[in-house]
Amino acid sequence: LASTEVDLSPVAEGQAITVMWRGKPVFVRHRTADEIAAARSVDVAGLRDPQKDEDRVKKPEWLVTIGVCTHLGCIPLGQKAADPRGDFGGWFCPCHGSHYDTSGRVRKGPAPLNLHVPEYAFLNDKTVKIG
Ligand code: FES
Repeated sequence: LASTEVDLSPVAEGQAITVMWRGKPVFVRHRTADEIAAARSVDVAGLRDPQKDEDRVKKPEWLVTIGVCTHLGCIPLGQKAADPRGDFGGWFCPCHGSHYDTSGRVRKGPAPLNLHVPEYAFLNDKTVKIG
């Protein structure tokens, strides 16, 4: 499918889901206020792949990224609050230990780039279209 629509209503704050889009996993994370604040308090100049959180999300509560580690393509962990989320509270790739923050930006480990942000749009408060 060229695009896919995702119902956000079952995704509780602090949780994420994985949906498939063009054969790739896409993470949709419902961020808490603390996670948003953490993503926005970072000094972007010190990042390996410098991007402001504001430039990576369309709505602060929702982080949408391709769920593929930019090192060698494993799927990072972090959907459930109980999952390992790495040292920066976002996503942790168990293959070689890349840590991503609550904006999906790489903060530690071998990954060269942030988790990619796909094309997406909110159709309404509870539906996002990916692609
Ligand atoms: Fe993720 Fe290597 S594939 S750290």
